[in-house]
Amino acid sequence: MKVAIFVSGRGSNLKAILDSHELKNLVKVEAVLSDKPDCAAFNIANQYNIKTYTVGEGEKKLKSDEVVAVLNELNIELIILAGYLKLIPSELIDNFENRIINIHPALLPSFGGKGMYGMNVHRAVFNSSAKVSGATVHIVNKLYDNGKIIAQQCVDISDVKSPEEIAERVLEIEHSILPAVVKAFAENKIKFDENRVVIVK
Ligand code: GAR
Repeated sequence: MKVAIFVSGRGSNLKAILDSHELKNLVKVEAVLSDKPDCAAFNIANQYNIKTYTVGEGEKKLKSDEVVAVLNELNIELIILAGYLKLIPSELIDNFENRIINIHPALLPSFGGKGMYGMNVHRAVFNSSAKVSGATVHIVNKLYDNGKIIAQQCVDISDVKSPEEIAERVLEIEHSILPAVVKAFAENKIKFDENRVVIVK
C-alpha cells in the first residue's frame, strides 16, 4: 500500500511508521508533506530518501488541487496525518474519502477541536484533572478531530505531576497505535459500517 504522510513538527510518529518491522513489506511511504518547510520531520524524510513537498498558501507551496494531483500521480491509497496541525482542504477530503487518518494525543471526542494540538491538549487534560488519557486514530472529515474513531488506547495518568509527563506516556501509545491502524488498512481489515468503523480480525 502506498501512503503519504503529512507532518508539521518533530516527526516521531513518521519515524515510528518508517521503522515499523510489521509495515516493512506492507507499506511504502511515497511522500512526506508539510506546511512547514523547515520542520524536523523533513530531515527524517530526507534520511529515508522520501520525496518531500511543502503545502499551503504562498510561494513555492503546493495548493490543494496540486496536492491532489501529486498524490494521484503517486497512486497514494492512504493519507496519514502524523502531527499535521492545519485543517485539511475539502478538495483533499472529497478526493480521498475515508482514506485520510489522523493521530490525536487524547481520547476523542474530549480534548479535540481547533487549537487542540500538541502540548495544548496535554495541558487541558492536566488542568481537567482527568485520570486517564490516551491516543485516538480517526478518519479525517472537514472538521477538526471530528471523524469516526478507528482505534483508541488509554493510559493511567492519575499520578502525573505535569502535562509533559502526560505527553510522554501518550506518545509511547501513539507510536504503537498508529502503525497498527496503518497495518490494518494495508491488510484491508478496516470496514465501514453505516455508523461505525471497525477493525475486523
Ligand atoms: C503528536 O503527539 C500528535 O498526536 C500530535 O502532534 C504530535 C506530533 O508529534 N497531533 C495533534 O495534536 C493533532 N491535533 P510528532 O511530530 O513527533 O509525531
